[in-house]
Amino acid sequence: MDIDWSQLGFHYTETDYIVRASFHGQWVNGELQGEWTKPYATTDKYIHLHLSATVLQYGQEAFEGLKAFRGVDGKIRVFRWEENAYRLQDSARGLKMAPVPTELFGRAIRMALERNLDYVPPYETGATLYFRPILIGTTPRLGVGPGVDYEFVVIPSPIGPYYPGKFHCTSFIVNRRVDRSARYGTGPFKVGGNYASSFRATEAAHLMGYDCLFLDSKTKRYIDECSAANFIGIKGNEYLTPRSEEILPSITNKSLMTLAKERGMKVTRRKIRLEELADMQEAAACGTACVISPMDKVYDPDKERTYHFGSEPGPLLTSLYRTLQDIQYGRVNDDHHWCTVI
Ligand code: PLP
Ligand code: COI
Repeated sequence: MDIDWSQLGFHYTETDYIVRASFHGQWVNGELQGEWTKPYATTDKYIHLHLSATVLQYGQEAFEGLKAFRGVDGKIRVFRWEENAYRLQDSARGLKMAPVPTELFGRAIRMALERNLDYVPPYETGATLYFRPILIGTTPRLGVGPGVDYEFVVIPSPIGPYYPGKFHCTSFIVNRRVDRSARYGTGPFKVGGNYASSFRATEAAHLMGYDCLFLDSKTKRYIDECSAANFIGIKGNEYLTPRSEEILPSITNKSLMTLAKERGMKVTRRKIRLEELADMQEAAACGTACVISPMDKVYDPDKERTYHFGSEPGPLLTSLYRTLQDIQYGRVNDDHHWCTVI
C-alpha cells in the first residue's frame, strides 16, 4: 500500500474490505416485515443487481457519511456513529425502505474499520477513514412502489479535506433557479436524489469558482443550506443556523451548537433571510466531510450583491473548529461521549 496521506483529497481510495448485509421481507398490512442477515466482510466491491431493482427504477437509495480519526494517543475514534444510524433509519422510512437496526449499523462500521485498519491515516496528516454506508432497494419491480429486498453496504475510504487546504475560506454563490429539495420533500433525508437534483446548480457554481448556497424552495427568501453541508453564521456572540423543513439535520451542526452553548454563545435556530448575512461577522458550511468550512464571501448574482466575511477564518468559528477537532483526535476529554474508541 502506497498512500501519500497528506495529499489525499475527498476522493475514493479503495480499501481491502467492504461490509454487506441483506434484507428480505414482505408487506403485511402496510408494514414491511422481514429479517436482516448478519453483516459480512468481502473484498468484492461489485454487486450482482437486477436492472429492474427499485434503486435503479425508482431511486430507492439513501446513504450516510462518518469518520474514524487516529488520535494523538494512537487510538482510533469513530465520531457519533449512532446519530448516523438514526438518520439512516429516518431516510429509510422517508423512501419506504427497510431501516437498518442501530446494532447492525454499529457492527458493520466496526467490522469495516477492523478489516481495514491499515487504511486509517496517521495522526496529523489531515486525513481520516471515511465510511460511506449505503442502503439500496434490490427488488426487481416495474409497478411503481417500494421493493421488499434491500442491501446495506459500508464502503470505507481514506480521505483528505473536502475543500483543498486545511482550514481556509471558500466562496459561495446563491442559486434561485434550482431546488435541491422541495418543501415537505426529501430534504431532511440523506438520499442520492437530493444530490443529483443539485448538480445543475453545483456544477454551474464550480465553473465560476464558487460552491452553491441554496435558498428555501418556496419563497427563495431564506437561507437553506449548501449542497453537502449546513449553514452557520456568527452575529456578535450569537450562533445562527437555519430552521427549515427541507434541510438535512447535520450531526456536525448539532455538535457545534452544543459546543457553542457551552462557551456561553447564544444559539438560535430560525428562518434566516439572505440579507441578514450583512449583519454577520462570520459564516461557514459545516458537515462531516468539510467539518467547518468558513466562507469569505457569498455572492448573490440576481441582486448583484456580495456579502463579505474577510479572507481569513474568523475567531469564533476557528475556535469551535479547534474544539471539535480536539475531541475527534482525542486531544481533550470527550465529556459528551461522542467518540467510540475502537
Ligand atoms: N447537509 C447536507 C446536504 C449534507 O450532505 C451533509 C453531509 O452529510 C450535511 C448537511 C452535514 O451533515 P453531517 O454533519 O451529519 O455530516
Ligand atoms: C458528509 O459530509 O459526510 C457528506 O456525506 C456530504 C457529501 C460529501 C455528500
